[in-house]
Amino acid sequence: MATTAQVAIGIDIGGTGIKGALVDVTTGELVSDRIKVATPKGGEPADIVAEVAAIVDRFGDDSRKLPIGVCFPAVVQKGVTMSAANVSKRWIGLQAETLFEKTLGRDILFVNDADAAGVAELYFGAAKGVKGLVIVTTLGTGIGTALLNDGVLVPNTELGHLEVGGRDAESRASFAAKERGRLSWTSWAKRLQRYYATLEMLFSPALFVVGGGVSKESQEFLPLLRLRTPIVPAALRNNAGILGAAWLAAHRGLPIAADFDAS
Ligand code: BGC
Repeated sequence: MATTAQVAIGIDIGGTGIKGALVDVTTGELVSDRIKVATPKGGEPADIVAEVAAIVDRFGDDSRKLPIGVCFPAVVQKGVTMSAANVSKRWIGLQAETLFEKTLGRDILFVNDADAAGVAELYFGAAKGVKGLVIVTTLGTGIGTALLNDGVLVPNTELGHLEVGGRDAESRASFAAKERGRLSWTSWAKRLQRYYATLEMLFSPALFVVGGGVSKESQEFLPLLRLRTPIVPAALRNNAGILGAAWLAAHRGLPIAADFDAS
């Protein structure tokens, strides 16, 4: 039987920042300070991997044997990054997992950032025990999505790039789009309404979970949405990526549905 580490390192690479922490994967708690650095300009693979190596170093020698999960804003299949939104195009087709393993000199689990956030919400947050389809969305530099059906993750769904009104949804409704356009909460909520109504029409989910840094201000925009689906802020806020990446690294090889308890 596979044994599971209790503590793992989670790293969340985003379009603007890279965050990392030690995570107790049995409780879902961070057991170190959260380290955060800016994503290097241009989002080049070599620069990003160097920043991640520096973060991992800061956890010290005691952490050398811990599993590491890294989540990233791209489609990730078998450790290869298949897309690149908000980072350098050099990630497309890159053996990202191998690149990180070589640089850090240890095994890495590499996963899409929204999928990592979805796993964290499933085990420790707002999606825990929810039957049916839960759509976890992260509103940040882009829009990330994780589909969880009865606790089973459908990976790499990329619904942030759904075309809504002839436009790439994240270019209109991400938090970055709000900032770029200096939109009020009300104007942004109109765009979110269109986006979530489209997801609702296509998927009829049981629940929407809204993550990303802006979820801490969810009272400013979630009450403005008119949907038939319940919509709640992510319980783990902006740490979901770190937690989910660490959880997946610690459980490497275990099916995600194995621990699901809908009771
Ligand atoms: C990327 C996704 C990612 C999301 C959130 C999108 O632009 O295509 O892979 O999950 O941003 O970072």
